Amino acid sequence: MARIALRQLLDHAAEYGYGVPAFNINNMEQIVAIMAAAREADAPVILQASRGARSYAGDIMLTRMVDAAEAMHPDIPICLHQDHGNDEATCLSAIQYGFTSVMMDGSLESDAKTPASYDYNRDITRRVTDLAHAVGVSVEGELGVLGSLETGKGEAEDGHGAEGAVARDLLLTDPDQAVEFVQDTGVDALAIAMGTSHGAYKFSRRPDGDILAIDVVKAINERLPSIHLVMHGSSSVPQELQDEFNRWGGEMPQTWGVPVEEIQTGIRHGVRKVNIDTDCRLVMAAEIRRIATEKKSEFDPRKFLQPSIDALKELCRQRYEAFGAAGQASRLRPLPLAEMARRYRAGTLTPGAPAKDAA
Ligand code: G3H
Ligand code: 13P
Ligand code: ZN
Repeated sequence: MARIALRQLLDHAAEYGYGVPAFNINNMEQIVAIMAAAREADAPVILQASRGARSYAGDIMLTRMVDAAEAMHPDIPICLHQDHGNDEATCLSAIQYGFTSVMMDGSLESDAKTPASYDYNRDITRRVTDLAHAVGVSVEGELGVLGSLETGKGEAEDGHGAEGAVARDLLLTDPDQAVEFVQDTGVDALAIAMGTSHGAYKFSRRPDGDILAIDVVKAINERLPSIHLVMHGSSSVPQELQDEFNRWGGEMPQTWGVPVEEIQTGIRHGVRKVNIDTDCRLVMAAEIRRIATEKKSEFDPRKFLQPSIDALKELCRQRYEAFGAAGQASRLRPLPLAEMARRYRAGTLTPGAPAKDAA
């Protein structure tokens, strides 16, 4: 069995200079596609589940499907990660269900809408980090609020995130405050605000440095060279996918996502985890639409879902290759969580001390 803590995986990614896509999962088809791509690419896997995913599939169903993926692909290290945990209970129940990593997103209050104060964020993240590390589980924190530098608004239109206008100094993570936050909380990975937002409608034009602040990544990486940075809202929403979706009756207005080349620049400057959900949804939905349009008499769900699995597999394979994660799975030997816990206790896994050197 090859379940791996996020910290060990990202330490490896930092050592070898690659990034790991973190794909959101909700159902069997997505897990099957991501794992098939990872096997083909020999890539380590981050499967992440939002609160919405956990309630959609149910914790037991979701985690048993991940158990099955692990049994079917024993040579592929899998990190199971809680995406956007909103409070201690969400993070701790994920750990009870076998997650090896949790995001405590204290950038927002527990309603997941209201921007939180620094002190609130620091305190709740610190509490979760202490508890998670005691059992060897990794923690991702977030500093700064996701939202658009074009409109100055949070991302509530996507169904979650801050509502209305958000101050610009919250929409861009402050590098000096990032140093303080990492020291205060002991997180293993840091999600930052840099102009990305969740969902398909990130930018109204191809993003440049004014609206996608790669400079913030560089500035944080200069001050904190050994913290693992996380880019949320990192779907690329490729033009060809938008066209394919619309070709089969979809109605997606023209939009721009985060270009893969910008993510690659981020990876050269400390980004190790790259969150992708929207692209996976879009590629599957386009295929389902295509079958529904081309084969109007079809009613076997498998005939809709198998092509969507195949298309998602190809998208995931491309991201594994583009981020440099391909070929890395076989170089990793997952440490048991008990060993990770021992290292945290011994103080050898403070931010910046790689797991491999800490034996
Ligand atoms: O956090 C954003 C992810 O895309 C998850 O979305 O909350 O609709 O599952 P969700
Ligand atoms: P996208 O909506 O860009 O895929 O972002 C997903 C994400 O950040 C999940 O936490
Ligand atoms: Zn996110």
